[in-house]
Amino acid sequence: MPSIAFDIYGTLIDPLSVGHLLEEMLGDRAAAFNQLWRSKQLEYSFRKAAMRQFNHFTECTHQALQYTDAVLGTQLSRADQARLRAAYRRLPAYPGVPATLAQLRKRGHELLAFSNGKKADLLALFEGAQLAAHFDQVLSVDEVRTFKPAPEVYELLVRKSRSDRAATWLVSSNSFDLIGAGAVGLPTVWLQRPGQVFDPFGYAPTRVLSQLGALSELF
Ligand code: LAC
Repeated sequence: MPSIAFDIYGTLIDPLSVGHLLEEMLGDRAAAFNQLWRSKQLEYSFRKAAMRQFNHFTECTHQALQYTDAVLGTQLSRADQARLRAAYRRLPAYPGVPATLAQLRKRGHELLAFSNGKKADLLALFEGAQLAAHFDQVLSVDEVRTFKPAPEVYELLVRKSRSDRAATWLVSSNSFDLIGAGAVGLPTVWLQRPGQVFDPFGYAPTRVLSQLGALSELF
């Protein structure tokens, strides 16, 4: 019986949902702000991993917020920045997530949350989005003090999974994450959101789905 690990931000939890709050603050500049904030957040995590200078993903998020505000000249007040940081700890799940997880768990699969996020942030998110009861394990990169796609992160998943490597699947919408998992021999499912393109690194995910709910046909 395979174990199934889920990426969190961008796969089960919607980081772009802070868009509503940004719209209140920035009007039609909100979408550009949101995209740049998310891509800088990831860039900072990659750079910190490459430099071997870990600090929590929360720091990447906050530093990316500061950068985005400065480069776009949006001049968010301290209070608005604090509201955005707080909203990031209460992001919602994408529609249908709890039902799909419940179904897979009922079939006896081990389900793992597997994220760059700081453990305390993940637990807070899962409480708010009513996902806490669905995971057998919550794995954070904190334990190995680097970020995806460093191989140590995926080896942590292999060590913690109750299945062997070939039966420990990663489900993610982030192609850098799937490529990282594939590089250490894990099978992968790309949950492809509209408009997403897979990075052309010469690796193809094991399966591609356009709806999370379709996992119940795979497993
Ligand atoms: C995560 C990042 C990739 O949840 O968003 O690990």
